[in-house]
Amino acid sequence: RYGYEMCVFVLRVFLATLLCAPCWCLECPDGCECFVSTRTVTCISTDLRAVPQSVPGYARTVIITGNRIHRIGPDSFAELTNVTNVSLGNNRITALDSHSFSPLLSLHFLDLSGNRLTLIHPEALSIPASPLQDLNLSRSLYNATSLTDLATALRWGGLRGLLRLDLSGNRLALLPPGMFSHLPNLRQLFLANNSLVAIYGGTFSGVSHLQMLDLTGNAFTAFRTDALQELERLGSVQVLLGQNPYACSCEIRNFVVWLNESRAQVDVDALRCASPKELSNSRLWGISTLAVGCAVPVQAQAEAGAGDLTLQTSYVFLGLVLGFVGMVFLFVLYLNRHGMKKWIIEMRDACRDVMEGYHYRFEIDSDPRLGRISVQNGG
Ligand SMILES: *[C@@H]1O[C@H](CO)[C@@H](O)[C@H](O)[C@H]1NC(C)=O
Ligand SMILES: *[C@@H]1O[C@H](CO)[C@@H](O)[C@H](O)[C@H]1NC(C)=O
Ligand SMILES: *[C@@H]1O[C@H](CO)[C@@H](O)[C@H](O)[C@H]1NC(C)=O
Ligand SMILES: *[C@@H]1O[C@H](CO)[C@@H](O)[C@H](O)[C@H]1NC(C)=O
Ligand SMILES: *[C@@H]1O[C@H](CO)[C@@H](O)[C@H](O)[C@H]1NC(C)=O
Ligand SMILES: *[C@@H]1O[C@H](CO)[C@@H](O)[C@H](O)[C@H]1NC(C)=O
Repeated sequence: RYGYEMCVFVLRVFLATLLCAPCWCLECPDGCECFVSTRTVTCISTDLRAVPQSVPGYARTVIITGNRIHRIGPDSFAELTNVTNVSLGNNRITALDSHSFSPLLSLHFLDLSGNRLTLIHPEALSIPASPLQDLNLSRSLYNATSLTDLATALRWGGLRGLLRLDLSGNRLALLPPGMFSHLPNLRQLFLANNSLVAIYGGTFSGVSHLQMLDLTGNAFTAFRTDALQELERLGSVQVLLGQNPYACSCEIRNFVVWLNESRAQVDVDALRCASPKELSNSRLWGISTLAVGCAVPVQAQAEAGAGDLTLQTSYVFLGLVLGFVGMVFLFVLYLNRHGMKKWIIEMRDACRDVMEGYHYRFEIDSDPRLGRISVQNGG
């Protein structure tokens, strides 16, 4: 009897264990795969419309890519305090609400690449104690409005610990001044594959520990003096400047000189001229001496020369006209020489009469008696 009860108990325990083991596996959300050993949850291309709610607590890495999640909100992630890596790439996310990632207190790495962000709340990226180190927003900003939104979110987010920011492939034409000034520890900034045409004084203000700046594949034709000063301010940073359509005219001179003198480590071998045609694809570095002296027959120089020539021509013409007028004047004087003599004598006589008149009046004015009479008459 006792043995029977014992047997039933053992059987129950066995069955319970058997039934509960799959229960543990069932903790993994629908359409996802959970790997206990690597503490990883992946939900890849499974048509999810929202971040799954039942991510197991042991997870450190959550990868949710290729789904159709439109919005991330404050309740998208539960208290997953040990999650360090979150990938949300290629999900067609359009909106990041306020405090979207706040519950993820250990979040170091956030990948939002390949989305269509149109609305980013100013506090979307705020997490207590700012644990975020790595933020990937490659190909994720929908238009210029999203960039302004992002600039605000970077300011309000308190991302003091951020080391790496990827903003490549976002068709950015202009960076708001001071956009990175609230990221004091930024080490690597990726701005490749955008449409940037200029760097301004203040573009990188507040960034003092940068080690790598990637400006590959933008629309720079040259860098003006203020841009070069801004880059120089970054110190001995690695700067990638390849695949830009550099215009190798006289205006590139300052840039070439800067390349030679700068503390920055530039990928000089990747810098190629896009224009003029005869220099197309030649290394900026190789032609440097010629370009610096502006000995290259570049368009700008030719135009400047032509301008000088027209100015000189007009001066010569003016001189000729003035000379001709002077000659005519002298000739007329010569023809009238007898009349002139008579006229001069008449003038002299007239002048003498006038001078005598003055002399006479001066003597009257200087006679004190006459002066007193006139004052008394006046009074
Ligand atoms: C997070 O990790 C700590 C220590 O490693 C552990 O005590 C805690 O239970 C974990 N949290 C969760 C939600 O698993
Ligand atoms: C988590 O992100 C860090 C970068 O912050 C990276 O070095 C690491 O490999 C990532 N881990 C996983 C499992 O993806
Ligand atoms: C950001 O994500 C893109 C696309 O997933 C990837 O190619 C790129 O290497 C990532 N950037 C960084 C800095 O890891
Ligand atoms: C960006 O897209 C949003 C949503 O389509 C739109 O409301 C906004 O006006 C756009 N901004 C610009 C500058 O085009
Ligand atoms: C830039 O775009 C080119 C072509 O589309 C691609 O091959 C390259 O990987 C991109 N680079 C970055 C850093 O995104
Ligand atoms: C580069 O600098 C060196 C000395 O620092 C100088 O001799 C050389 O002419 C410079 N080249 C250019 C292109 O400025």
